[in-house]
Amino acid sequence: MNEPHLNALKCSKCGKKLLFNGAFGAQSEVEEGEIVCERGHIWSINDGIPSLVHPPINEKDAKWIAEYDEMADNYDELVKQYDEWLGVDMMKERENFSHFVPNEGPVNIIDVSIGTGANFIALQNQFKNQMSRFNLHGMDLSTGMLKVSKAKFIENKLSVSLTHGSVYNIPYQTSFFDIVVHSGGLNTFSDIPGALNEMLRITHSGGTIIVVDEGLSPRKRETEEGKEIMKANTLFAARPPLKHIPVGAKDVEVTYVMNETFYQIVFKK
Ligand SMILES: C[S@@+](CC[C@H](N)C(=O)[O-])C[C@H]1O[C@@H](n2cnc3c(N)ncnc32)[C@H](O)[C@@H]1O
Ligand SMILES: [Zn+2]
Repeated sequence: MNEPHLNALKCSKCGKKLLFNGAFGAQSEVEEGEIVCERGHIWSINDGIPSLVHPPINEKDAKWIAEYDEMADNYDELVKQYDEWLGVDMMKERENFSHFVPNEGPVNIIDVSIGTGANFIALQNQFKNQMSRFNLHGMDLSTGMLKVSKAKFIENKLSVSLTHGSVYNIPYQTSFFDIVVHSGGLNTFSDIPGALNEMLRITHSGGTIIVVDEGLSPRKRETEEGKEIMKANTLFAARPPLKHIPVGAKDVEVTYVMNETFYQIVFKK
């Protein structure tokens, strides 16, 4: 991790700014070490990824994270099975996130629960040689997923600052990001309002939050095909959690993407 990454973060215990703990000199990238806040809370950096998980996760979330750690290496293959089953090209659909990205100037973007990093690869497919104007961050609670996304970004020569953290207490500065993307985790989170509140907090005034997760459109859930999908995987019966959209969110819009099998909620700060 480097200094711009450090400056975007905050202490997960007290919210104060962080500093590298120790003499790193002119070294620009720290692979192993510690960071410390103004009040002395210490966090580790492992394999270039700072870890700022606090408070400890509950049993329900821990169970999911154990599963994600376990499936991380095969996750992309597993998700590909959705393509044929749902009649979509997920990677292509992820490119639609680029519609929310300003066409010029520097942009701070975070993928919350980045998983194996597919959204940023899709962004790269769209913006190609413009990627240097994006300051990209990714956070996840699964170290297995972070390891896979890190390797993928190195392979694709994409610079992304990765952080080990939880969506219920995102270790980033308030109002830092212009774009916050989250795909695929919300339905199973134990605290949906808490997660959405945190996504809004880290967004800059006027910035955009895009949340996508399994959930059939009202039309599709009435079709035979829709009923089959919901029977095979109950996650697809989820409805967009509109009652949990934080107070203070503006211009809330719900649409259905991926052949009407995922809801997409977009709102502004
Ligand atoms: C279905 S995967 C989606 C990954 C990726 N966003 C995508 O679209 O392919 C859900 C992700 O949420 C992460 N996750 C689960 N609980 C979390 C939490 N409390 N905080 C942050 N990430 C979490 C998992 O580790 C996993 O990477
Ligand atoms: Zn602190």
